[in-house]
Amino acid sequence: MNNINILGCGYAHPSNAVSNYDLESIVETSHDWIVQRTGIENRYISEDENTSDLAYQASLQALKNHQIDRSTIDCIIVATMTPDYITPSVACLVRDRLGLDQHVLCFDVNGACSGFIYALQVAKDLLNSYQRILIIGSETLSKIVDFTDRNTCVLFGDGAGAMIIEKGSHEILQVSNAIEDSKHVLYADGLKLTKGLSNQDVTPQYLKMEGTDVFRFAIKVLEETITELLSQSNKTIDEIDCIIPHQANYRIIKHVAKKLDIPMSKFFIDVQEFGNTSAASVPIAYADAVEKKRITHDSCVMLIGFGAGLTYGGVLIK
Ligand code: ACO
Repeated sequence: MNNINILGCGYAHPSNAVSNYDLESIVETSHDWIVQRTGIENRYISEDENTSDLAYQASLQALKNHQIDRSTIDCIIVATMTPDYITPSVACLVRDRLGLDQHVLCFDVNGACSGFIYALQVAKDLLNSYQRILIIGSETLSKIVDFTDRNTCVLFGDGAGAMIIEKGSHEILQVSNAIEDSKHVLYADGLKLTKGLSNQDVTPQYLKMEGTDVFRFAIKVLEETITELLSQSNKTIDEIDCIIPHQANYRIIKHVAKKLDIPMSKFFIDVQEFGNTSAASVPIAYADAVEKKRITHDSCVMLIGFGAGLTYGGVLIK
């Protein structure tokens, strides 16, 4: 099992901030409803930045903030469900933008809101073959959000977070990810149709979600993952510096905190600023927490993702 060091992190978002008040003019909703039901006050929606642009910006921040020589990166993994293209991968586009060597291993992971956790778990194992791995969660969810559906459009935002790791001294424990209900409560049809020889256009479909079912799933797996990581590590909650869960809804975190009797101050939450950015949410929150000096790269932190698939996963870095 590989131990890791986190060398750097960074995040980026589109320049276009969209408040709840802005959404009031698009769908029948209100700032108060969105804040009370989700905790979200703001999100960033891309006008011309694509997923690779945000991923690149977040990577530059991670390299710059911690003065890392980009030529030492030998592997790039991007977690996303909204890539620029079906192929090439976002990771390849980032490699090109960074001007890195063609021998850098590049690939994308689609694990929806659990994507960054899965990418980190894979990266940790790849440290036997690669020295410095750039892991990015990046999304332009606005591509697949239906801005006529108030049930979903108020929840999501665009953004990217990046982390650079190498072999080191911090043990990393992980919860593997159960998968239930592949396509009933949270999905975007996208290219589901086969077209045979017809060459007919396949119209991409918007994200659809049964919010209450996903809410119940999220509470259950967040609680289970925290409990399992504590049990694996033989640690008490007091020994954990910070829990950084997927930023989907403030109420999900509050519910689990109450159930497990964990003070809310133990969680890092920035859903109010970014909304739900799917695979980008955990690395954005991690970099935001470092920037706000809530944690350092030596802190004992739990990172937990959950979302479409249904998927979930967590890591404890100690
Ligand atoms: N503004 C005003 N009213 C609204 C809005 C809105 N934006 N959206 C829904 N409503 C209405 C509904 O129509 C409903 O009205 P009705 O009672 O007249 O039918 C009422 O508000 C209550 O709706 P609910 O869906 O029951 O509201 P709920 O409290 O469950 O909150 C929410 C909805 C925020 C979506 C919640 O269910 C949730 O957060 N679910 C989990 C989302 C999540 O965790 N996603 C993570 C994965 S995302 C991914 O993987 C891509």
